[in-house]
Parts: sequence; C-alpha cells; structure tokens
Amino acid sequence: MALVTSKEMFAKALNQDYAIGAFNVNNMEIIQGIVDAAKEEKAPLILQVSAGARKYARPAYLVKLVEAAVIDSGLDICLHLDHGENFDICKTCVDDGFTSVMIDGSKYEFEENIRVTKEVVEYAHDHGVVVEAELGKLAGIEDAVNVDARNATFTVPEEAAEFVARTGVDSLAVAIGTSHGAYKFKGTPYLDFERLKEIHNLIPDVPLVLHGASTVLPEFVARCNQYGGNIPGAQGVPEEMILEAVKHGVCKVNIDTDLRLAMTAEVRKFIQENPAEFDPRKFLGAGREAIKSMVKHKISDVLNGSNKL
Ligand code: G3H
Ligand code: 13P
Ligand code: ZN
Repeated sequence: MALVTSKEMFAKALNQDYAIGAFNVNNMEIIQGIVDAAKEEKAPLILQVSAGARKYARPAYLVKLVEAAVIDSGLDICLHLDHGENFDICKTCVDDGFTSVMIDGSKYEFEENIRVTKEVVEYAHDHGVVVEAELGKLAGIEDAVNVDARNATFTVPEEAAEFVARTGVDSLAVAIGTSHGAYKFKGTPYLDFERLKEIHNLIPDVPLVLHGASTVLPEFVARCNQYGGNIPGAQGVPEEMILEAVKHGVCKVNIDTDLRLAMTAEVRKFIQENPAEFDPRKFLGAGREAIKSMVKHKISDVLNGSNKL
C-alpha cells in the first residue's frame, strides 16, 4: 500500500456512476476520521491539502500524517495539493511526495492559465505526478444570476476542450454554479447541467472535478446553532445534484465545508453537555467520529463509492 496518483481511480470511475471523494485535511483527527470511513466503505480516496492547511498544520506534519494513514489503514491514498496558487507551490509539493497537484490558474486569462498549467504539467509529469487545473470561475453567492453573468464566469465547453489539448492536464475542475464555503446560494440552488453535459461530450475521456460540492446539511447547521453557533442562512448543493453531476463525467468531488460543520457541531455539543470535561482527546475524539460518519454518508449515499476497491 502506498501513496498513489488518481490516474487509476479516475480511469475506473469515469463513465461509471460513482466518483472519488476528495476530502480536505488539516489535522490528525480529520485524517483519521476520513481514512477510517474510506476503509470501512472500501472506497478509493483522495486527501487534499490547501494553502490554509499547510499554514495551519505545517507541510511536513501533513505529509507524514498521510503517510502514517497509508501504513495504519493499508489503503492506497492519493495525496493532492488543493488550489496550488503558482508553479513554485506545485513544485514544492511534487518534491515533498504529493502524488497529485492542482494548479489553479482560474484567476488568469485563458492564455496565461494555459501557460502556467503547462509549466506545472511538464514538471509534475516528469516526476510521475498528475495535475488538475481549473477553467472558469467558481461563482460567489451574488454571481451568475443571469445568462450573461454565467457565460462570463462558468466554463466555456469549447475552451475546456482546447485547454486540455494544449496543456496535457490530467483532470479539469469546471465552474457550473458551485462555490466554496457554507453560503453557496441565496435562493433556489442552481447548477448548469447542460453546460456540464456539453463539456463532457467534448472531452469524454477527461475526468472532471467539482469544487464547492458540500451540501451544508441543515441538520448540522442546526446542531451548530443549537449549541452556541451562529451560522444563519447557510445553504449548499443538494445531494441529488451531486449524484446527477457524477453521471456526466465528474470523477472527483471536493468536500471540506461539510466536514467542518460535522466536526464543529459535535465538538460544540460535547463541550456544552460535558462542562466538567477538559481532556481535549474527549472532544477531538467526538469530532473525529463525526467526520467518520459524514464521510461514510458521502461515500455511500452521495458518491456511490462504496465497494469500489
Ligand atoms: O478550497 C477551499 C477549501 O475549503 C480549503 O479551505 O483555504 O480555508 O483551507 P482553506
Ligand atoms: P466546499 O466548501 O463546498 O466543501 O468545497 C471544498 C473545495 O472545493 C475544496 O477545494
Ligand atoms: Zn476548491
């Protein structure tokens, strides 16, 4: 068992009705909760590390913790850099043993996005590492309310085909209406499935990635609020929309916010219900269990990913 790339995982998932969960990790308890769930579900797994995670936990700790998870679980795990900002951070992660990196050039114009993505692809492929890129901009809560705004921010299918052909990237994150965090939609949730289908039709062999795919389950928001939180008006992508996206080329589904909500709800509840307890292992342990059951739910009910090893 080892750290592996996502190549084989995606090849198996593409054009089948399941996707690989890519879960963000920031500390030991989060890693253990996710990995325990994937092991029980016999599911392929991507653990991803953001710039914020590297700043919080420090890169060496995260790499060693994920290596420990491979040893402890006996699973193959893909270790992925989430939203690599530039070539240098991608190179550092390749050199540190990551098996997959994302170069997020979505802030650039098309040609500059291609240039920086190509540079990363060349270096990563030389080192046996796969690359995810992003085309289009993830919409914020106020964005993409009308067709013009959508065309300006969402991924243009023809550009996606050209982008992949010119960069040689291994997978592509698309913008179809999702966004990061707990406040994704003000009114009725909307994803542009027609656009997703067009992209998938043009590049059927390219694994697509859905960022901002948390559902922000009302039950967990309510539990956070019940135990002293203040998270009003949070709303995510309904789970049936994720299942639908998975049918149209989406092989990697990024989930962070739902883990945060699950852990926070449980930690808040534990601390409030156990005022005399001051052993951090008790509330962190409760948080770890909450992560595990959320990830099991995602894998089995939303990603259709159980028993795919
Ligand atoms: O892409 C966003 C992920 O949820 C990571 O968030 O930058 O706060 O670690 P972060
Ligand atoms: P959420 O905020 O919806 O969990 O998205 C996470 C993500 O896309 C990480 O790259
Ligand atoms: Zn993301």
